[in-house]
Amino acid sequence: MDKSNCNKSAFVGLSGPHHTLAVSVRDPQDNTDYAMAVEWTTPLSVDPPLFGIVISQDKKTHEVIKETGIFAVNILPVERLKEIWGLGTRTAKRQEDKLSRVGLTAVEGTANRHAISIEEAAASFECRVKDEIQMGGFTLFVGEVLAAQAADVVYDTREDMWVPENIGFIFHVASDVFVTNQKSIVQPRK
Ligand SMILES: Cc1cc2nc3c(=O)[nH]c(=O)nc-3n(C[C@H](O)[C@H](O)[C@H](O)COP(=O)(O)O)c2cc1C
Repeated sequence: MDKSNCNKSAFVGLSGPHHTLAVSVRDPQDNTDYAMAVEWTTPLSVDPPLFGIVISQDKKTHEVIKETGIFAVNILPVERLKEIWGLGTRTAKRQEDKLSRVGLTAVEGTANRHAISIEEAAASFECRVKDEIQMGGFTLFVGEVLAAQAADVVYDTREDMWVPENIGFIFHVASDVFVTNQKSIVQPRK
């Protein structure tokens, strides 16, 4: 393939599209629930179960995670793209009731009194911060997974696997361009 040199910062887009999730938190000051769109995420370990999220230090969600050490990760189906966009383009610093304004519902978590997840999510998992690393204006929060829940229709708990025909995930390409997984999945070993 013919190639040209790119700007170094192109690595962000080149490593995508990134699966975009919603991270939800409860502010202990006044029990207000917040959430933001997050695409810089990664599983880090199975045993112990660790998941990493990278959050800009100027976000409201960052402030609350620093205070409680608790967050939940929510996987929203592609039908909720508008809501994810709302979570990613409005800050709770200016709009306290951001979650309900975008049309999502907070529900109490199961593992910790500060944990909240999103009712409309196909799956959620609650995490406690085990470690954090500052990088430029961002923090990598390493969360230990305390509990996980998934909707039966999209997740086969016996096989421990998504039912890909039943869910479209939200992948961010750039600016307001997103893609989703195809209905028919290529299986290289078959
Ligand atoms: C598709 C998409 C993905 C995003 N991914 C991240 C991310 O990985 N980390 C981050 O800090 N901000 C990310 N953002 C930006 C935040 O979601 C956005 O600034 C949000 O308004 C922060 O909300 P808060 O201030 O209420 O916490 C993303 C935005 C969009 C639209």
